This record gives sequence, structure tokens and C-alpha cells, in this order.
Amino acid sequence: MKATAKAHSNIALVKYWGKRNEHLMLPQNSSISMTLDKFYTITTVKFSERLKEDELWLNKKKQEGKELEGIEKPLKKVRELAGIKLKAKVMSENNFPTAAGLASSASGFAAMALAASKAAGLNLDKKELSILSRIGSGSASRSILGGFVEWKKGEKSNGLDSFAVQVADENHWPEFRMITTIVSSKKKKIKSRAGMTQTVKNCPYYRAWLDTIEEDLNAVGRGIKNKKFSLVGRTAELNSLKMHATMMTTTPSIIYWQPLTMKVIHLIQDLRERGIECYFTMDAGPNVKVMTLKNNEKKVLKELNKIKGIKTVSCKAGPAAKIINKHLF
Ligand code: PMV
Repeated sequence: MKATAKAHSNIALVKYWGKRNEHLMLPQNSSISMTLDKFYTITTVKFSERLKEDELWLNKKKQEGKELEGIEKPLKKVRELAGIKLKAKVMSENNFPTAAGLASSASGFAAMALAASKAAGLNLDKKELSILSRIGSGSASRSILGGFVEWKKGEKSNGLDSFAVQVADENHWPEFRMITTIVSSKKKKIKSRAGMTQTVKNCPYYRAWLDTIEEDLNAVGRGIKNKKFSLVGRTAELNSLKMHATMMTTTPSIIYWQPLTMKVIHLIQDLRERGIECYFTMDAGPNVKVMTLKNNEKKVLKELNKIKGIKTVSCKAGPAAKIINKHLF
């Protein structure tokens, strides 16, 4: 009863920020993301009679406390669906820094949902896998699919209509680039989960965030389908700034930006003024992601790499989560 899965992380173009149900991880708003080809998690899950408790190993270190608690909900769901009581050993490895705003929880929980369900003998479809991943971490619902993906927020209180669907596959827009800049790979102080709760509760502008979401979803969805780069980039950049505005204006205030974050933002604005089209987006962390097209990729990378202290990785749209044969243990 062992299986291994590989899932890629994703970066949202229209962000998910705020839950309507914290237990089931139901979002206040729908979101759209791009799955990244270069960043992924590999996870092996084994159910065994020999285990007395569930075990979690992350990047070769045994985890306790909150990290371990985090996998309990999806594991419980898998056991329920498969009708088993066995405990599980979960081993997971990321090929990139954990918890630095590069969506390690997205790829992590998607890989775990796929590996655990397979190890338990289940054959879940994409919708069921997306729901199972969502219970672990909201953004993970999107990492089950490749290319460009929309997580529909759903209306039902049981969450059965809150899952991700593909907008376009990974071959649809081969020119699109998402350049991740790592300005810091330190673990962030406030995780997105706590940040969201604090924002929904205390930000006076949270309603305004929700009021413009539909417009952003339509623009980005249409832009992806018709490959309208300016529309996608412009809308995604503003959407991310609106999300950060709600974080900054909640109590206590959450500011993820660091000096290097500002340097990158200003560089992107300068490049645009010089006719090199690129846009930025940021998640719950200091790292900036830069959207551009293939014809400008080299120029943008050259300028970004002139900033001391940052690392860049240029990504294309990546594939869906899949089962692989090479186990981690
Ligand atoms: O599901 P989480 O806890 O990884 O939250 C993700 C939140 C953002 O990255 C800020 C936005 C998003 O849609 O990915």
C-alpha cells in the first residue's frame, strides 16, 4: 500500500485570499493560476499495520506539531473513502525553498492527495483529487491540473462544488513566462492561513477586494484563452496589489515586502516604460514573480540578475500532478 506522486506548484494570476469555511478550506473568491514547470514536490505515502501514528518527513526531516497536524485532515478523508484504519508514513521533498511564497503547500498537498489516495487503493478523478487537495491547502486544489487553472469557489456548504478546472493546457501558450525571483528563502513569519483569517476579520477594505474579483477573473480567463498578454499581465499585477493592500490594512498589519521586493517592482515599472512588456505578482511572501513573453525573456532576466542578492528561475506552464514509479523510501 505505497504510492508516489509528483505535483507542480502554481502561482495565482487572480489570488485566493480569505476563507468562508476554515475547516473545509472553502474560499471567499474563485482564483486562476498557472502551474509551474520547474518547481515541484515528490511525495511517497505508505499505509502500514506496523505504524502506530501517522508520520511526516519533509525534506528529510521528521515533522511534529503543526506540520504533522496539517496532513491529518486529508489522510482522515482518504481512510474514510477507502474504508481503512491504517496509519501512514508520508515522505515529501521539494526541489525549492519551503514556505517562502513559492507555493510549496500547493504542490505538497496535491502530491500527497494523489499519492495517499492511490496508496489506499482509490482511483479518484481530477475533481475528487482537487477537493481532497483543497482540504490540505486551498491553493493545492489548483496543482492537480496543468497549464492555466481556475479554482471555482462553489456555493455549497459541504464544499463539493469547490474544485479546480483547467482553463487551458500547458501547450496552449508556449510563449508565456513566469520568472520567479527569490529575494529571500527564509520561512515567513506569518503563514497565508493566519494572514487570511486576520484579513477577513479586521480589514476594512476586504469587501472592496471581493467586489472586483469577478471582473478580474473574467479579464484573466478571457486573456488566457485569447492569448492577450497585456490584459492578463495588467489585471494580474493589479489583483496582487489589491490583495497586498488588504493585508497591509488589516490589524495587526501584514507587510511581506522587503527592500529587494521594492527594487524588483521598480525595475519592472522601468522596463515597461522602456517598451519591454512585463508585469509582477506577489503572494504571501517577499518574492516577486514576473510575467513576460518569450521575446522579452532574456532582456528581463538580464536586468533582474543585475540586482545583487536575488536568484531568478524562468518557468513555463507545467504539467498536471501524476503518479511516478520512483519511491522516496
Ligand atoms: O492555500 P494557501 O494557504 O497556500 O494560500 C495561498 C494564498 C496565496 O498564495 C497568497 C494566493 C493564491 O491564490 O495562491
